[in-house]
Amino acid sequence: MTDDKGYKIATKYWDVTKHLADDRIQLLADEQIQAAGTLLQQGGTVAFPTETVYGLGADARNTAAVDTVFKAKGRPSDNPLIVHIAHRDQLEELVLEVPPLASALMDAYWPGPLTIVLPIREGVLSPRVTAGLNTVGIRMPDHPVALAIIEAADCPIAAPSANVSGRPSPTLASHVREDLDGRIGAIVDGGPAGVGVESTVVRVLDTGSIQVLRPGGITDKQIKDVTGAKIVSGSSAESEARVAMKPQNNSQLEETDTEALPLVGQQPDKLVPLSPGIKYTHYAPQGELSIVKGDSPDKVAAWIEQALLREAERGAVTGLLAFEEHLDLYHQPAGSVISLGSLAHLDEAARILYAALRRFDETGATFMLAEACEEDGIGVAVMNRLVKAAGGRIITIE
Ligand code: TXA
Ligand code: MG
Repeated sequence: MTDDKGYKIATKYWDVTKHLADDRIQLLADEQIQAAGTLLQQGGTVAFPTETVYGLGADARNTAAVDTVFKAKGRPSDNPLIVHIAHRDQLEELVLEVPPLASALMDAYWPGPLTIVLPIREGVLSPRVTAGLNTVGIRMPDHPVALAIIEAADCPIAAPSANVSGRPSPTLASHVREDLDGRIGAIVDGGPAGVGVESTVVRVLDTGSIQVLRPGGITDKQIKDVTGAKIVSGSSAESEARVAMKPQNNSQLEETDTEALPLVGQQPDKLVPLSPGIKYTHYAPQGELSIVKGDSPDKVAAWIEQALLREAERGAVTGLLAFEEHLDLYHQPAGSVISLGSLAHLDEAARILYAALRRFDETGATFMLAEACEEDGIGVAVMNRLVKAAGGRIITIE
């Protein structure tokens, strides 16, 4: 199925493994890597590809540089940044200790889409990076361009996703340009990011459990396979907090999923997170997105189709995010239909999701509906981001 411009987003994406194996891309990037490294050393900001999404990097020791990152993104100053390294031996100077379970995770999944929160050594990074916390989230990205740039800069690189806070994260250099052109030093174009959703953020608790602060590219099962640890996701605490901290307006605040951290206060409206996280994020398109779920794909599709027609009659520009298996169930589809790929390969949905949300903005969509997928494997991260993009609007069809 295609939309009115004959656009089928799934086919636009390359297989990232093939892409990264392409020597020409590597050579092209090599020309820019020294320049990017020098710019970072001089306190500049550089957007670069990682295997998850594009990041906006700065020298994590340089407060002025880190400030530029916060300003360019419009990111609230209490939301800490992830620090990226290229070698395990960079860890020692940054953190006080690495628990054995964290070490096991690094052995298995670094470089890769896993961020591990560890106790920071005082004074080694700009305090702006950690937003005053005594921990730091560290990750080693699995992308040759990212690793080469970090190496060339020869310092720990603070890098949030290279989007304006509240917008979908960038999976292409053009997304970064859309959001941040003129506000940052440089963009290194390495083609499409791979996983498509951000890294999984974890910390090892004193109890020996592993807390998933944000689901992402590494699944619960992958964490369990390596550590045997109990996984705590804390989503109930998160939803409690979200109710308590509902934004007053269409806030630009960005997510942090530090959900299971303790809350203080008794009354729901008085709950205050002890962590800077638990914010209301978006990844939101400009129009109104809702998720429609139910056991029967036929019933869900029929409901969606009716709702889209009704809204279109009222003048809305409509959009639909659906899975490949269900596309034929829609007879009079929305203004634009974007396939999230097959339900049997949710990694494709992860890779496509943010670009799809940005595509809706391009079409001027004002009312969008999305099918849901199973929250299993990478589907956990896909649904986590989709629910945020939808501002929590979920319609269940019996
Ligand atoms: O895949 C990724 O992680 C991408 C690429 C660029 O590496 N980066 C990314 O960064 O997603 P950002 O800033 O968009 O998200 C960082 C998340 C936020 O939810 C933040 O609250 C959380 O990590 N975080 C960072 N440091 C933390 C800490 N010390 N404790 C708890 N959460 C932390
Ligand atoms: Mg982000």
